[in-house]
Amino acid sequence: MVDLDELWKNARSELAAVADPEALDVWRLSYLGRHGALTQVLRGLGDLPQEERRSVGARANELRSELEKALEERQAALERDRVATMEAGSIDVTLPGRPHLVGRLHPITRTLRDVLGALNSMGFQTVEGPEVEWEHYNFDALRIPEHHPARDMQDTFWLDSRKDGKRSMLLRTQTSPMQIRFMETHQPPIRLASPGHVYRYEATDATHEWMITQVELLAIDEGLSMRHMKGALTELCQALFGRDRRVRFRCDYFPFVEPGAEVAIECGLCRGAGCRSCGNEGYLEVGGAGMVHREIIENAKYDADRYTGFAAGFGVERIAMLRHDIDDIRYFYGNDLRFLRQF
Ligand code: DAH
Repeated sequence: MVDLDELWKNARSELAAVADPEALDVWRLSYLGRHGALTQVLRGLGDLPQEERRSVGARANELRSELEKALEERQAALERDRVATMEAGSIDVTLPGRPHLVGRLHPITRTLRDVLGALNSMGFQTVEGPEVEWEHYNFDALRIPEHHPARDMQDTFWLDSRKDGKRSMLLRTQTSPMQIRFMETHQPPIRLASPGHVYRYEATDATHEWMITQVELLAIDEGLSMRHMKGALTELCQALFGRDRRVRFRCDYFPFVEPGAEVAIECGLCRGAGCRSCGNEGYLEVGGAGMVHREIIENAKYDADRYTGFAAGFGVERIAMLRHDIDDIRYFYGNDLRFLRQF
C-alpha cells in the first residue's frame, strides 16, 4: 500500500516547483488524473482488508480535497505572477481589449428574407433553380423563340458549350425558367416562390447591374383569375412597403403571360401626385406579372380548361432601393463597409 503521507509530501514539493500552466497540468494528471497516483489508491481500496479500507479510504479522500485545494491555490499564484510580470514589463494590461468585428446580413439577403417571408405566409413554397440554364428553359419554353425581340431586351451571357460554335447554355437572364422546371415535376395546385441571381450583359450604371436578384412567383390552380393575382401581389407589396401604399397594375407585355401587367407601388414621397423622386410618375415599378399563357399550361400537360394561374417576377435590389432610399444599385456589390454597416 502506498504511503499516503509520503504521497502528500512529494505532491507538495513537486507543486511548489511548478512554474507554468503546462507544468501544473502535468502535476494535476500525475496525482489527480485518471491514471494519477491518488486515483490509483482510491481505485485499489476494494482490495484492502475491511478494517484498513475504512481508515485508508477516509485519509485518501481527505488527501484528494487537500490536493485539489493546493492545485487551485498554485493556479491563482501563477496567474498573479503572470499579471505582475506583464505589469512590470511594457504591456499595458489596462488597455481595453480589441473588439471582435460582428458581421451582419447583406441588405439584399434581408430584403429577400422579407419577400419570401410574406410569400411563405401565403402558402408559396421556396424552391431555387440553377443559375446556369438551358436556352430552352430561359427563352423557348417561355415563348421567347430565337429572333424574338424580347430576347434583345435581355442581353445574355452565353456559354460556349458546344464544339460546333452553337450555344445552348447561358447564365439565366430571369428566374422565370423555374416556372417551367417546376411544372415539369409537379401537378397543380402549385404555389411557387423561386429566388435567385440572374445575369444580363449590361453596362453598369446607377440603376443597372450585370447581376441582380429576382423572386419568381407561380400559382396554378382551378379557378385562379386576375383577382387572385392582384390580391396576392398587393398583399406582398403592402407587407414590404406598408399597408397604406396603393398598388397599381397596368398593361404590359411578357410573352409567357396573357394578359401581362406591370406592378408598381405608390411613391412614398408624393403619394401618387408625381414628384422628382418618382420621375413625375406617382408610382414606382417593382415587378412584372400576368396570367400564365394558355400555351404554357398546355405544354405542361395540365388540363388547360380546368387550370389557370398567375406568375410574377420581382427585382429584390429594386425593392431594397425603394425601401431604404438607395439611389445607386452599385452600392450593393461594391463591398464598401460604410454602406453595408447601415443595415
Ligand atoms: N421575367 C421577367 C423579367 O425578368 C419578369 C416577369 C414578368 C416575371 C412577368 C413574370 C411575369 O413571372 O409574369 O423581366
